[in-house]
Amino acid sequence: MAGQGYVVPNDRFFVRNHTVTPRLDAATWRLRLFGDGLRGAPTRTAPVEFDLDDLRRLPAEESVALLECAGNGRRFFAAQQGEPVPGVAWGLGAVGVARWRGVRLGTVLRAAGLRDDAVDVMPEGLDPRYVTGGVDLGRVRRPLPVTKALDDVLLAYEMNGEPLPADHGFPVRVVVPGWIGISSIKWVGPVEVSTAPLFSPWNTQFYRLFGPAHPTGGTVLGAQPVKSAFELAWDARLPAGEDLLLRGRSWSGNGPIERVEVDTGDGWRPADLVAADRGGPWQRWTARWRPPAAGRHTLRARATDRTGAGQPDRATPNDLAYLFDAVVAHPVTAC
Ligand code: MTE
Repeated sequence: MAGQGYVVPNDRFFVRNHTVTPRLDAATWRLRLFGDGLRGAPTRTAPVEFDLDDLRRLPAEESVALLECAGNGRRFFAAQQGEPVPGVAWGLGAVGVARWRGVRLGTVLRAAGLRDDAVDVMPEGLDPRYVTGGVDLGRVRRPLPVTKALDDVLLAYEMNGEPLPADHGFPVRVVVPGWIGISSIKWVGPVEVSTAPLFSPWNTQFYRLFGPAHPTGGTVLGAQPVKSAFELAWDARLPAGEDLLLRGRSWSGNGPIERVEVDTGDGWRPADLVAADRGGPWQRWTARWRPPAAGRHTLRARATDRTGAGQPDRATPNDLAYLFDAVVAHPVTAC
């Protein structure tokens, strides 16, 4: 993101697919809501339907929101903590902020006849069924509590002023600001609304914290923790003995960043926050540094969010290696 603006351009935004990007036809696409959480209990085969024009006729809303994969930073469990882990070995690139435009999921749920006693909403993707280890787990889907669905969740049809790119969910995706990326179902089609809690492998088998540090049965994941990254290549080469302005970003799924500190080798000191970003889903910052001598150096950044949550020196291990939130040691070479 060095040299980029606040939002991540569409062609740089990370892509995480369980299978492959489907090519959907906007003209025949339908959102199909069903379940006993809607008045009249429409069924999967006789759902309440909305086409793209129906959604566009409802009040549109824009949301500058953060999307981050729960596995972002996973490779540092192994690299920094010596804990070999399964899954995609993300560095810190599986995160982005975009300007999403669409209609609130709550508006559509109400238009479809949401009942007061509905508790869970489960959007389902139209990408191919996910088969792993020889087991067909069906389409990618994960329930959301109705309370969250009615809060700030969007059914987005635009990303940064363009129709959603195919890889990001064309024609319509769910955007759940600040929550683990799997909540933001792409290529959404069916949406189940229920008066009883809903389950899928994506909230029972995956995207839970399992392991000795967690309760039996695991903890279900919601919001993303605090993280920070320098806008520098890994092992970047920097001029020794010159005054530099280091740049970076910090973010949290639990609300705006309040404070950022950096350590360039001689202790923690405050970074300068970019004023225009205050209160937003991520926070850019700068810190001055003159590399004292040619050779290898380690840069560190850590942030604290509005809730007071910060970044530990060591992330809590979990079997599927989610939510790596520890301070990342970023190597650079001055020459
Ligand atoms: N939705 C569907 N239908 N299929 C998927 O594979 N991947 C999820 C989520 N939504 C996925 C999905 C995961 S794990 C993440 S991190 C985000 O999409 C990534 O969104 P992006 O590819 O637009 O960055």
